[in-house]
Amino acid sequence: MREWRVPHSDQDLQKFRSKLLGWFHRHQRDMPWRRTRDPYCIWLSEIMLQQTRVAAAIPYYERFLETFPSVRALAGAEEEDVLRLWAGLGYYSRARNLQRAAREIVERHGGEFPRDFAAALALPGIGNYTAAAILSIAHGAPHAVLDGNVARVIARLEAIRGDLREGSRWRALQTSAGRLLDISHAGDWNQAMMELGATVCTPRAPNCAVCPVAESCRARKLGLTETLPEKRRKRAPEKVHLAVAVFLDPAGKTILFPPAKAASRKKEERNSELSALFSRLWHFPAAAVRKDARTELRRHLQTVGGMQMISAAKLLPLPPLRHAVTYREITITAFVVRVKELPGARTGRVLPMNKLHSLAVSGLTRKIARAALAR
Ligand code: ADE
Repeated sequence: MREWRVPHSDQDLQKFRSKLLGWFHRHQRDMPWRRTRDPYCIWLSEIMLQQTRVAAAIPYYERFLETFPSVRALAGAEEEDVLRLWAGLGYYSRARNLQRAAREIVERHGGEFPRDFAAALALPGIGNYTAAAILSIAHGAPHAVLDGNVARVIARLEAIRGDLREGSRWRALQTSAGRLLDISHAGDWNQAMMELGATVCTPRAPNCAVCPVAESCRARKLGLTETLPEKRRKRAPEKVHLAVAVFLDPAGKTILFPPAKAASRKKEERNSELSALFSRLWHFPAAAVRKDARTELRRHLQTVGGMQMISAAKLLPLPPLRHAVTYREITITAFVVRVKELPGARTGRVLPMNKLHSLAVSGLTRKIARAALAR
């Protein structure tokens, strides 16, 4: 064993576990998914929490379960309806995978989330973290979770340098997480580690004064709590410029285009990138801009069936908007285009500007709509 393993002895390990669990029982935040052992609910919460803050996830979680209260209900739904409930949360592949997995669970596992780790891992959208979280929280199965919060806690406990996501280091962290795990309270243990990372052992300015396990922390002894974990090298952001047409007819209606289909995605690579910027959901007519937003948008609209009639319409620019999706930094020049009549329903879906949420739209589309409505 590495001599700096923290805590050092078995006895220290017992103390460490009981301190952290005791702290968790006193200080854990109340969250709706902590009031259930239903694997379906826990699964949903874990998927939502992967890229979303707790406070933002709660209303989505509650609405989702009201609409799809069981794996079977989710499996039987239209994908469009699932995506609509996800609209605004981002990372829509999470919702698409969730539903694919629900269908597999109905077909292969009799509608019950599998208890077996390997079977859970085989489902779309379920990785080591999610499988460990669901099975430990729902059934007390002895799997240690390792996510960003837990990795940071362990990196500080053991004073680990370097990029935590690097393969061998991440595996070492997984080993440490497994060693620390209290197998008789696996679900609470995992949540306690995550909770400590989320509320006390935070990325910046960790609150060591209230940390139940500060005594065991090697980073603290070495004065490295602010230095560790070391910064990851981030992928350079990719800048994208989009021109978007917000059509408005006299009744306050607009038109959205449908998500690109897999077939047309292959055909048109540029379109595919564009469609990814809108998370492959319903979106305003848009064009990628190389030089001039107005010219290129106009040119694009002329290539779209049923849009020729707008060639005379004025494009009124809104102030530029900015939006970030993963490593992309998007600048959006949106134009309000007032028309007497919108192009027909063959091209897209016509609906009131203030009812866009009745379709599955991304955060970017909502942002554009808000800016246009504020005009
Ligand atoms: N982050 C993701 N899942 C969590 C959980 N169950 N408890 C605390 N933080 C979490």
